[in-house]
Amino acid sequence: MTRPLSIGIAGLGTVGGGVLRLLRENADIVAARAGRPLAVTAVSARDRSRDRGVGGLHWYDDPVALARDPAIDVVVELIGGSDGPALALVQAALAAGKPVVTANKALLAVHGAALAEAADARSVPLAFEAAVAGGIPAIKALREGLAGNRISRVAGILTGTCNYILTVMREHGREFADVLAEAQALGYAEADPSFDIDGIDAAHKLAILAALAFGRPVDFSAVHIEGIRAISALDIGFATELGYRIKLLGIAQRTAAGIKQRVHPCLIPVGVPIARVDGVYNAVVAEGDFVGRIMLEGRGAGAGPTASAVVADLIDLSRGRLTPVWGAAPGALSPLPAVPIAAHRGPYYLRLMVVDRPGVIADVTAALRDHGVSLESMLQRGRSPAEAVPVVLITHDTGEAAMRAALDRIGALDAVLEPPALIRIESG
Ligand SMILES: NC(=O)c1ccc[n+]([C@@H]2O[C@H](COP(=O)([O-])OP(=O)(O)OC[C@H]3O[C@@H](n4cnc5c(N)ncnc54)[C@H](OP(=O)(O)O)[C@@H]3O)[C@@H](O)[C@H]2O)c1
Repeated sequence: MTRPLSIGIAGLGTVGGGVLRLLRENADIVAARAGRPLAVTAVSARDRSRDRGVGGLHWYDDPVALARDPAIDVVVELIGGSDGPALALVQAALAAGKPVVTANKALLAVHGAALAEAADARSVPLAFEAAVAGGIPAIKALREGLAGNRISRVAGILTGTCNYILTVMREHGREFADVLAEAQALGYAEADPSFDIDGIDAAHKLAILAALAFGRPVDFSAVHIEGIRAISALDIGFATELGYRIKLLGIAQRTAAGIKQRVHPCLIPVGVPIARVDGVYNAVVAEGDFVGRIMLEGRGAGAGPTASAVVADLIDLSRGRLTPVWGAAPGALSPLPAVPIAAHRGPYYLRLMVVDRPGVIADVTAALRDHGVSLESMLQRGRSPAEAVPVVLITHDTGEAAMRAALDRIGALDAVLEPPALIRIESG
């Protein structure tokens, strides 16, 4: 058999540990598919004193030094973070002409355009299957499997933590803060969960998917981002009653005006497949002009699924399968304009807490009418004269700007007791 592919891994945490284990346990099938053994020969992490079963491998305190080791064929970056040591390592590896495999979505979303230019200029592969939706081969599906299609839309449940929290809230009627605390205790959510629950992690992944889907330079700054902190058990209950699920979706769409990228909670009809993707599972939906709609579902995080994606990239590299980072050479990418969220149009779910007294609903509907918002349905619960009762309104297709203007007026009414809850409705 050919000489082993010599691999240097920087970062031996959840994902790095998973990659080491997969390469050990599946060494025979991996070697058969790669055409040669994949041998980890050097590693780097912060704390050398921890026993990680890597005795005998070359250890580097400085990951950049690992990238320059002439005995290493491929550098695997599993440190994380958009800047700092991860960026320095990837830049050093590409400068040294070494292929890179990374699981780092933050790095790619923020620096992906420049890194792709550095990689493509030297014809050095930069592979990142693990960066989006963990074990789901979403990158390969979009970049290779659907390469013959014009993609009109790509959407996904891209953060298992949020999907888990929303699922438990629905199944047990519990509030967000309570379920988040439990998810942290169980290790499903980070001690600092803001990247996940505020939608930033999903936005990093969406920016990567959008670049691949639409053949444009990755543009994280153009993603409109809202998280799930404001979702209440009350809204989840109403959504269920009305035949919807609430999910945090990342959605990138091609429109006549350009590319719209957004991450926010959505109401999705329960009959749509992605509405039923629950718990820690992720899903990616793509719509192409010839293929139609496809959906991929699976585990979006964790040592095993993420290692599965990293090793798939290593096998591709070993076989010499080289695709430009974003599917086409940087010069062939088209700078389609970004469409702001203010230009969004669609139906909305609006929930108000109002004082139960005559004339209140008339004031609310007058504000909607004056901004051209037409209603599809309305639901009013309970009769507790002079007390707060929820009112739910579902609109027809409405422009975001009109909806916001109507909401400002409604929010200022005396009888409206809390900030209104507004959630966009999506087809899935
Ligand atoms: N966890 C997942 O399920 C998952 C899924 C998809 C993608 N990812 C991505 O994969 C990457 C790694 O995530 P993870 O969850 O495995 O992180 P992690 O468990 O925190 O591990 C990070 C590793 O990087 C090492 N490290 C930190 N700073 C370093 C430095 N300056 N030099 C050398 N090593 C350094 C740490 O060393 P010590 O061990 O000594 O502290 C640790 O081994 C991130 O980009 C993440 O976004 C993770």
